[in-house]
Amino acid sequence: MAVVIVTGRGGAGKTTTTANLSAYFAGREYRALAIDGDLYLPNLGFHFALENVKYTVHSLLKDPSMDPEWAIYKHPETGVYVMPGSTNLQDVLGISPKRLRDIVEDMKYKFGVVFVDSPTGVPFDTLPTFEVANYQIIVVEIERSPIYSFEIMVKNEVEKLKALGDEYGLKIGVILNKIRESQDVVEDIIQAVEEDLNVPVLGAVPFDDTVPASINIGIPVISYRPRSYAGIAFRETGQILEEWMFG
Ligand SMILES: Nc1ncnc2c1ncn2[C@@H]1O[C@H](COP(=O)(O)OP(=O)(O)O)[C@@H](O)[C@H]1O
Ligand SMILES: [Mg+2]
Repeated sequence: MAVVIVTGRGGAGKTTTTANLSAYFAGREYRALAIDGDLYLPNLGFHFALENVKYTVHSLLKDPSMDPEWAIYKHPETGVYVMPGSTNLQDVLGISPKRLRDIVEDMKYKFGVVFVDSPTGVPFDTLPTFEVANYQIIVVEIERSPIYSFEIMVKNEVEKLKALGDEYGLKIGVILNKIRESQDVVEDIIQAVEEDLNVPVLGAVPFDDTVPASINIGIPVISYRPRSYAGIAFRETGQILEEWMFG
């Protein structure tokens, strides 16, 4: 199974969600691989304290003969297999995102679940990957929109990304992140997304300062602070996703 994680706006929490959901599945004994598909601004490695590794997804894109295993690192604290990107400008230039599709296709047979972190907006780097993916998760940050237009903004964002996933026949779900609003506001948004757009909301994660703290440490919050608000919410989201994907 391959899952691409996307968002309309930057900073909504794609990479955080990728890191935490892959940690959830690894904790449930799946072989879980997290791939950094944000080829121009990769930062998945930071979430797993893997910022200075020798081989990255960029190495594989440059040298097709390289064994993908070389760019996969097992994160000791969570058991997640991570394929980080390179933040070196020279590595980012002149690579073909089309090859990422082949890597993901290959990895789908070697891992129980593969998460692909994507760039913001229309995810050009990972669009070819949609051909081999099964699921698309849309992460929506609702905290920054003015309260009266929450539903409209969220629906607008989800609708556009949903159209993309639909084109490739992906199963689509939404995760709300960085929630600071009251429960009834959140419930209205969930209702709007589920009933008007017909997309299931898989989880709702509160704004929680333990999230940036855990990134600094390099252990996803679900493992670093499992009883924090965000840790609990990511676990509940993982349970729903697991049920959805594997029944
Ligand atoms: N639930 C949350 N609570 C608080 N901060 C969060 C939460 N989710 C993400 N963040 C913070 O927001 C920033 C952006 O998150 P990130 O996952 O990198 O977004 P994206 O990959 O969509 O650009 C990070 O610095 C992270 O610490
Ligand atoms: Mg990101």
